[in-house]
Amino acid sequence: MQIVLEENELHNHQIFLENGYIIVKNSTNTYEKIQDELTSIFEMDLNRIHQSDLKDINPIRLDAIKRLNQDHSFHHSIYNDFKSYIYSLVGNELAMQKNINLSIHRPNISDDLLDIHSDSLCGNSNYELTVWMPLTKAYDSNSMYIIPLKDSVQAITKLKNGEYKTIENLKEDVKSKYKFINIDPGETLLFSHNLLHGNIINETSETRCSINMRFKSLLTPYDQKEMGSYYIPISPKPVTKLGNMFDEL
Ligand SMILES: [Fe+2]
Repeated sequence: MQIVLEENELHNHQIFLENGYIIVKNSTNTYEKIQDELTSIFEMDLNRIHQSDLKDINPIRLDAIKRLNQDHSFHHSIYNDFKSYIYSLVGNELAMQKNINLSIHRPNISDDLLDIHSDSLCGNSNYELTVWMPLTKAYDSNSMYIIPLKDSVQAITKLKNGEYKTIENLKEDVKSKYKFINIDPGETLLFSHNLLHGNIINETSETRCSINMRFKSLLTPYDQKEMGSYYIPISPKPVTKLGNMFDEL
């Protein structure tokens, strides 16, 4: 039996399957609320964090992460913001990442580098959707790059076949494929973290701040990032609840 999808949904599915990601407009002003929260913590515009007098911003960054995660109100706002896409791309019986992550990528600071990786090679399962929401303008080297789907598949195949001696060999191989995500606050990247991605030294004059969190279909496989410690269920259905109950007898 073939399920007939709505035209919009089919379009989004095609884009996601071709590219491994989709860029969408936020449907609420959650990003502004998070911007306000973080601006009050850092006491400055987020794109100027690099001008802070603080030598080490990590303690304040950790405090900011704590504040983003102290109750689950931001989690639910993010979920509601992208619910229709998450339902369409992932499903409607979901698990959500327990902690929202905050990334700060300051100009010319090598400490802020995130080397090329795919999360599914680092303990996440293959079955997850990452919501990557910029809080400042994300462009060129201040943004994140992704390696297009076909090239990621090719490079990960070579990696698994032992064709790269070091990660530097892999990097060299895909260097010409970097695609920087150019989006403004109010837009969000929904991507499969199976894609290779990372960042390079930020050569712009602005700091990029972004948050990310993950959603997955509740009953898909988990890797090292497990239910309970890393994920929480958000919409288990009655049949699953009863099933779990009987599993435990
Ligand atoms: Fe990642």
